Amino acid sequence: MKYNFDEHIERKGTQCSKWDNVGARTGNADALPVWVADTDFSCPRPILDAVRKRAEHPIFGYPIVTQDFRDATIHWVGKRHGWKLESDWIVYASGIVPVLNTLVQQYTEPGDEVIIQRPVYHPFGYAVDDNNRVISDNRLLYRDGRYTIDFDDLERRASSPRAGIMLFCSPHNPGGRVWTEEELRKVAEICLRNNVVLVSDEIHSDLVLFGHRHIPAASLDERYAMNTVTCFAPSKTFNIAGLRASGIVVPNPEIRAALELQFKRNRTVAQNSFSIPAYVAAYEECEDYLTQLLPYLEGNMRFLDEFLKANMPKIKLVPPESTFLAWLDCRETGLTGESLNDFFIHECKVGVSRGNSFGSAGSDFARVNVGCPRATLEKAMNMILEQYRKRGM
Ligand SMILES: Cc1ncc(COP(=O)(O)O)c(C=O)c1O
Repeated sequence: MKYNFDEHIERKGTQCSKWDNVGARTGNADALPVWVADTDFSCPRPILDAVRKRAEHPIFGYPIVTQDFRDATIHWVGKRHGWKLESDWIVYASGIVPVLNTLVQQYTEPGDEVIIQRPVYHPFGYAVDDNNRVISDNRLLYRDGRYTIDFDDLERRASSPRAGIMLFCSPHNPGGRVWTEEELRKVAEICLRNNVVLVSDEIHSDLVLFGHRHIPAASLDERYAMNTVTCFAPSKTFNIAGLRASGIVVPNPEIRAALELQFKRNRTVAQNSFSIPAYVAAYEECEDYLTQLLPYLEGNMRFLDEFLKANMPKIKLVPPESTFLAWLDCRETGLTGESLNDFFIHECKVGVSRGNSFGSAGSDFARVNVGCPRATLEKAMNMILEQYRKRGM
């Protein structure tokens, strides 16, 4: 089936975080929202059909996780990422953020250190702070418009007796990197050597652009697999974050038992009646949607890059390797932190994600979600351009 990503679909009034909550989240209710990481595209037809079919049954009592959930995960991860999973390894979770929090609780004590790499998706930091653990920031290096890992610093942090776990974003949000095999091996080795459990958040792994290739770190070596929790989900790929379904791959039975025990203690990680039908349809029937989505996203990234180069050279697109999240380097504008946020959100009235919400390493940046019709992106860019010119930047 042919999908039309240019179609504008009105989302206001659908309890939609991006459009209905833009005021509360960005500070300007009139801003054009390009913040939260879902797309403005319809999800694929087979998912709509699966949800409708389930909705036709009139009872929405307690659901269970069925084998087809595991089979669909095996199918998708094998086909897209070349990693052959075993059924027992796969655990259902309602989302990846709950898994990050749960593993922090299970593998560290209050006061212990959790390694993250800022600038990074802000709930990584919340998972540490909210559980009274300490952030050990293996800050990414930013050189020539590209993020890389400071491995010496990572080794030092991992060797701390108080470091129990590393939350790793692969591919990386917001920096857009798709980590290479060499980088992944180094991260996995350092964690293994230092007895640090590696939690690899691979929620963006399907959205890999411009010829890059995603590799699940755990797939590289059985030893890594035994020390890694890999988090997959169809939520970003197919725009079904609201249906709450993710597949957590835990080959090590001890780590799996620890995760499941903590889930049980909290009793919060259940699915709803639509989660599994949507998840199975996504991973079994929707590959053609992804095949069409990727070139559209590449087109939006290219448009953005060319627009900035032609009109606003002081704002630069960090070369995107993955995700629908564009990370804008604004260092040359002379604005930083809240003044930069104010520029975008209040002057331009474009509801970007605030760069400094990803940690102070993001203070000179803004994140723009290009998972929208090109016309919306063009509108946002023209709104920014008008103020850029007004300020004589
Ligand atoms: C890296 C990353 N992990 C997790 C999530 C959200 O996970 P979930 O909605 O499954 O809790 C996001 C959403 O933006 C993300 O970018």
